Amino acid sequence: MTSKTEDQGLNRGLTNYGDPDFSIYLRRSFAKSMGYSNELLARPIIGIANTYSGFNNCHRHFPELVDAVKRGVLTAGALPLEFPTTSLGEVFLSPTSLKFRNLMSMDTEEMIRAQPMDGVVLIGGCDKTVPAQLMGAASAAKPALQLVAGPMMTSRYKDERLGACTDCRRFWADYRAGRIDSNEIGEIEGRLATTAGTCAVMGTASTMACLAEALGMTLPGTAAIPAVHADRLRAAEASGAAAVRLASEGITPDKIITRDSVENAMRVLLALSGSTNAVIHLTAIAGRLGISISLERLNELSNTTPVLVNLKPVGEHYMEDFFAAGGIGAVLRELKPLLNLDCLTVSGQTVGERLDAAAGAYVDRKVIASFDDPIEAQGGLIALFGSLAPDGAIFKRAAASSELFERQGRAVVFSSLADLSERIDDPDLDVTPDDFLILQNAGPKSPSGMPEAGYLPIPGKLARAGVKDMVRISDARMSGTAYGTIILHVSPEASVGGPLGLVRNGDQILLSVAGRRLDLLVEDDELARRRAEGPETSTPASESKRGYDWLYANHVLQADDGCDFNFLKADK
Ligand code: FES
Repeated sequence: MTSKTEDQGLNRGLTNYGDPDFSIYLRRSFAKSMGYSNELLARPIIGIANTYSGFNNCHRHFPELVDAVKRGVLTAGALPLEFPTTSLGEVFLSPTSLKFRNLMSMDTEEMIRAQPMDGVVLIGGCDKTVPAQLMGAASAAKPALQLVAGPMMTSRYKDERLGACTDCRRFWADYRAGRIDSNEIGEIEGRLATTAGTCAVMGTASTMACLAEALGMTLPGTAAIPAVHADRLRAAEASGAAAVRLASEGITPDKIITRDSVENAMRVLLALSGSTNAVIHLTAIAGRLGISISLERLNELSNTTPVLVNLKPVGEHYMEDFFAAGGIGAVLRELKPLLNLDCLTVSGQTVGERLDAAAGAYVDRKVIASFDDPIEAQGGLIALFGSLAPDGAIFKRAAASSELFERQGRAVVFSSLADLSERIDDPDLDVTPDDFLILQNAGPKSPSGMPEAGYLPIPGKLARAGVKDMVRISDARMSGTAYGTIILHVSPEASVGGPLGLVRNGDQILLSVAGRRLDLLVEDDELARRRAEGPETSTPASESKRGYDWLYANHVLQADDGCDFNFLKADK
């Protein structure tokens, strides 16, 4: 029998029966019921956090990936043991997947900690799964490595190439405006998402895959490999082997996710013009290790980071093109003068060593521009501050209409999601293309749990008249696959008394992208009067007294704090 003092593999973290030798004996006995040999049971153990689910189309190929990871672990001399965790399929969750990201992170953290594993391969992909796994692994403090699902392949409709889900929105806007009929939208519905993998554009899932690689938490070159490509299986096998080495060297996530690597990831986010959601997720991941991200620092980095990647929803291409063009490695090589090159990655190389090893590799300049000839001189995302957003708001300027950047507009206010859906297409709605659409009470503390509703539809009568974009402001989020002049994550949110909740129809609002400003042009005494009056329309925070609803309502933080739970952040 193996001594209980060998704190490795099956001997880790014993079940407490008051007799450690009995605990080991019983555990080994039960493990043998699964048919493992003594030789395998004596090895270090690599857990495989599997998020396969019938409610997650993006993870449909995970059984194959798990098998490939197991091959790598076994070949490298450890025992792979797969375990299930929560899975979050973006379009299958109500009210919105973000509400459950923290739950998944807690599940991931506790199962990594509680079960006897020396290291873990995290397999995720759909939007919230990768941040949840990285948050959980950072808190669990065991050696960990991320393997992502990889993006879907594109499909065809007539003579067009389609990919989820920027094209989903484009066709839906055409349908709302009467440019295509119900037969055609029905046909398109079957062409948008046709393979396993995550959305085919630089949406939240792809952005988070790229940021995981930029942080150093995936093997180099693996973020953009398409889900169905054989290279993805080879990446899975290599990830299994790498996890064994990480475990033997005791390299925990805090050695990899540092202030410097988080800033590398922010640079990459800006160069990608990636998803606005990534600001929330990166803040939450960093917060688990006591690293704070300020939106002022985001603006400083944005001022000096060029946009390099020409992918939808901002540009023209899809993730499979990005992979063929050189992927994140090519982006990192262009950004090299701006990066912290000493950061360690899960491959064992530093970022600088990784980039030197691939110097001179092929790059398709139609998809990934050079540092000297960028798509935009400054980053794709910025933060706005002002009397309407004292703690900041996020604006994806790369996906917006520049003619709307410097202007003053009249507020047309929707007090909730229900109010929005009831009135947005009302022919009598008092709205013009120059107005600013305002959505209140859709932030993290609201009953809707900060949905991706910040992409407010253009009012029906304006859409039919050909209006394609307007300034839209909310405390909600926006899908990474969406686009438009959309200001999000206004903090503090309306539901906790933020000034957004004090806006009334007809108020003037000033937007200055150049000045990074978002101001409500209403006198202070009038705002004080409105505040004293209370909300015009009451949308109370969740009043549930039990379960996860209660936990969420009482502990979720604001967007500028990553929407994590206050008790999950690192002790300072
Ligand atoms: Fe899973 Fe888009 S729905 S990544």
